[in-house]
Amino acid sequence: MTEISGRVAVVTGSGSGIGRGLALELAAQGAAVGVADIIPENAEAVAQGIRERGGRAVAVHCDVIDRASVKAAKAAVEVALGPVSLVFANAGATSFERVVDMSEDDIDWIVHANFMGVMNCLIAFYPDMAARGDGHFFATASTAGLMPSWVPYHVPYSGAKLGVIGLMLNLVTEAAEAGIGVTVLCPGGVVSGMKANNARYRPTRFGGPGEGEVKIPDGFFQHAQLHFRPADEVAKMCLRAVRENRPMVVTDAGMRQTFHDTYVKLVDEAFDFTDRFEDDLQAGRV
Ligand SMILES: NC(=O)c1ccc[n+]([C@@H]2O[C@H](COP(=O)([O-])OP(=O)(O)OC[C@H]3O[C@@H](n4cnc5c(N)ncnc54)[C@H](O)[C@@H]3O)[C@@H](O)[C@H]2O)c1
Repeated sequence: MTEISGRVAVVTGSGSGIGRGLALELAAQGAAVGVADIIPENAEAVAQGIRERGGRAVAVHCDVIDRASVKAAKAAVEVALGPVSLVFANAGATSFERVVDMSEDDIDWIVHANFMGVMNCLIAFYPDMAARGDGHFFATASTAGLMPSWVPYHVPYSGAKLGVIGLMLNLVTEAAEAGIGVTVLCPGGVVSGMKANNARYRPTRFGGPGEGEVKIPDGFFQHAQLHFRPADEVAKMCLRAVRENRPMVVTDAGMRQTFHDTYVKLVDEAFDFTDRFEDDLQAGRV
């Protein structure tokens, strides 16, 4: 059982959406919170709100794609609040476009924000936690990573999020040896600022911030059958999973059948294909 109260937490991407929900819920459950975001004024507003309710919080600027920035954020939080033992590598950015319509910069940005963003947090925070033998490492992936063929026009995003699931589930064994808990969140639909603000999250070296909403292909959400959950509910669900050291969280119980229909079926059929190949090999039909 990982206690939340009395710990120091860092949440990346906590100026908005799921990260903001996590930061507020962590504070409500008694943690001091480093509110880390690429948009400093949003981080400051969340930290200020926590302090006004009597909690402890500090806002730090952080671009998770830039490892030095993540390390600097860690140092700033530890000076202000003390050693960090709960890390929520949550920041991310999205795209809903055919890969041939995306610039190379945008592909790099989406892969780096979603995959290297988590890896950079692991590199910056995890060794100290493992040396102390205490804490929990949490990352936000996506249902688009859990079932990569589920929704179309999501190539760099689905790939990066599947990568996050892979690194987190592989981490479970060595983290347990070190006394660290691990949880990966695979949200389905959560009310957040991403559709409206995503273009603002693009760092300068990938073309810089832009304007305008994410253009989602017609019919996309009907196909995906998403039920959008409020971020505060998701945060409560996530912190329960951290306390119980659950390796994976999904946000929408109604998607179980979709998982079976898309991913389990796909993998089962791959094994069936190999079974038939083996049969033909044994029978000399290859
Ligand atoms: N909302 C959903 O339905 C949903 C579904 C699946 C996965 N997710 C994932 O949840 C996470 C949070 O997204 P959200 O939906 O709350 O969106 P959001 O837009 O409300 O929040 C994202 C936050 O991340 C910050 N951010 C973006 N790039 C950053 C960077 N390079 N460094 C630091 N901060 C950065 C933004 O400034 C913003 O505050 C993301 O990883 C996203 O991919 C969300």
